[in-house]
Amino acid sequence: MTQDELKTLVGRAALQYVVPGEIVGVGTGSTVNKFIDALDTMKDKIKGAVSSSEMSTKRLRALGIAVFDSNEVTELSVYIDGADEIDGHGCMIKGGGAALTREKIVAAQSRRFVCIADESKLVPTLGIFPLPVEVIPMATQRLIRQFAKLGGSATLRMQDGQPLVTDNGQHILDVAGLQISDPLAFELQVSQWPGVVTVGVFAHQKASICLLGTAGGVRTLEF
Ligand code: 5RP
Repeated sequence: MTQDELKTLVGRAALQYVVPGEIVGVGTGSTVNKFIDALDTMKDKIKGAVSSSEMSTKRLRALGIAVFDSNEVTELSVYIDGADEIDGHGCMIKGGGAALTREKIVAAQSRRFVCIADESKLVPTLGIFPLPVEVIPMATQRLIRQFAKLGGSATLRMQDGQPLVTDNGQHILDVAGLQISDPLAFELQVSQWPGVVTVGVFAHQKASICLLGTAGGVRTLEF
C-alpha cells in the first residue's frame, strides 16, 4: 500500500471514534484531510466541528459541516489529528503543517486525542523530524541561540521566499538535531522561554489512541 492509501485507511478508521450528535475536534494535515473526506459520510449525524486551522475549516465548510469557534465549546469528547512523529507512550511531534498552536488548544479541550498516522511516524525517541516551534518574530534570533545550547540547529521556515506566517500571524522555527528523551520535561522547559508561542512537542496533550496504518491494516495503540 502507498503512504496515501495508508492515510486513507486510518482517516476512515477514525470515524468509529466520532460521537453522533456531538461536535468533533478536527486537526490539520494530509492525513486529517482523508478523515474530513470520510466525515462527509456521517456529516448529518454530527453537530459540527471545532477546527485547528484555516485550511481544515475551509475543507469542512466545503462539505457543509458547521465549524464552531473553540470559545463556543467547553469540552469535546474527541479530537482527531495526525502527527509528524509518535513514540511508544503517545507523545508526539506536531506542527509540520504549521498549525501546532491551534492544534494544542483544541487537543487541550478534548477528553480523548485520537492520532491517525501511517507507520513511518512511529519512532522510539522523538526528534528525527525537525521540531516545529511557533515563535514571536522579535525573539527568533535569541531562540535560535537557545536551541543551539540544547544541541539543536534551528532554521526559520520559509514560504515563497518569505518567512512563513501562521494562522496566528507568527513565525515557525524548525529545530533539527534534538533527541527528546523526556518529552514532558522538554515541553515544559521550552514553553517557558520568552517568545515561544507553542512548542511542537505534545506530551501534556498526548494521544490516548493511535490508529497506525500498516501494510497489514490498521493497528490500534492505546496509551
Ligand atoms: C500540522 C500537523 C500534522 O498533524 C502533521 O504535520 C502531520 O501531517 P500529515 O498528516 O500531512 O503527515 O501537526 O501542523
